[in-house]
Amino acid sequence: MKIICGPASMELAERVSALSGLGSVPVVFKIFPDGESYIRLDGSFEGEDVAIVQTTCPPAQDAKLFQLAFIADAAKRGGAKKVIAVVPYLAYARQDKLFLKGEGISVETVARMLKAAGLNELITFNIHSEPALEKFPFPAKTLSAIPLLADYFLQKGCKGAFALSPDKGAMHIAQQAQTVLGGEFGHLSKSRDRFTGQTVQSAEGLNVKDQTVIIFDDIISTGGTIVGATRILREQGAKHVFCACVHGLLIGDAEKRILEAGVEEIVGTDSVPGKFGKVSLAPLISRELKAQN
Ligand code: R5P
Repeated sequence: MKIICGPASMELAERVSALSGLGSVPVVFKIFPDGESYIRLDGSFEGEDVAIVQTTCPPAQDAKLFQLAFIADAAKRGGAKKVIAVVPYLAYARQDKLFLKGEGISVETVARMLKAAGLNELITFNIHSEPALEKFPFPAKTLSAIPLLADYFLQKGCKGAFALSPDKGAMHIAQQAQTVLGGEFGHLSKSRDRFTGQTVQSAEGLNVKDQTVIIFDDIISTGGTIVGATRILREQGAKHVFCACVHGLLIGDAEKRILEAGVEEIVGTDSVPGKFGKVSLAPLISRELKAQN
């Protein structure tokens, strides 16, 4: 198997190649003056399986998705046997059903497009809802980066910290973190108005007085969920509040708002490269691909 280093996840792909010992195929990449993407695969992989590592996070998630499709097409045309896509952040995964009349199912459109481009398999991380994977007309799986994030905090001296998920649906995330941190775990409750997007959070039966609390979530986007959760935790008398997410999008002034609410550190993975991508997914991806090789 060879690793194809997608332009959106170049560093991560190179790390995966180094850790796994699987050879890499560089991608020659440019953006034309009109904004369109050009890709060319600069290596040989005929008759081999390939794994394209390419995240599709904002900004420019549409361009990143098309680059992924173009790479899959080029890989198939170049004679790859099986084309696997490792897409740490999968764009459009949150629109996985019809919430309101008149909508489409965006993730299904993405899945069909990738199938048409030649993809045979997809691996992603902490997809927002697992049923979205059923929309893919080929094997698609989600891995969890939560143990890696919890381990980051363990190394920082947070053994025994309280692992909290900001809503009940993400309770399994807090539970995964708890197995690493060894403290208690729990959740807040959150409901969202589908028309206005407004959310309401509450904390029934939670007591985190004097505790170090780490909020674990799949995504931080506008930061509203973390800000609301942190206010509740501070009101309860939590001693320290940290937050960890797999996909740290942190749109607009999210970072400022989260820090002002009282979070001491924001930690994400290199699913979204940049300032918050402090924990690398490379060990997990490398293990997964080696197991398939
Ligand atoms: C939603 O249920 C997700 O798990 C996240 O909590 C949400 O997407 C975070 O969005 P925001 O940062 O905009 O509150």
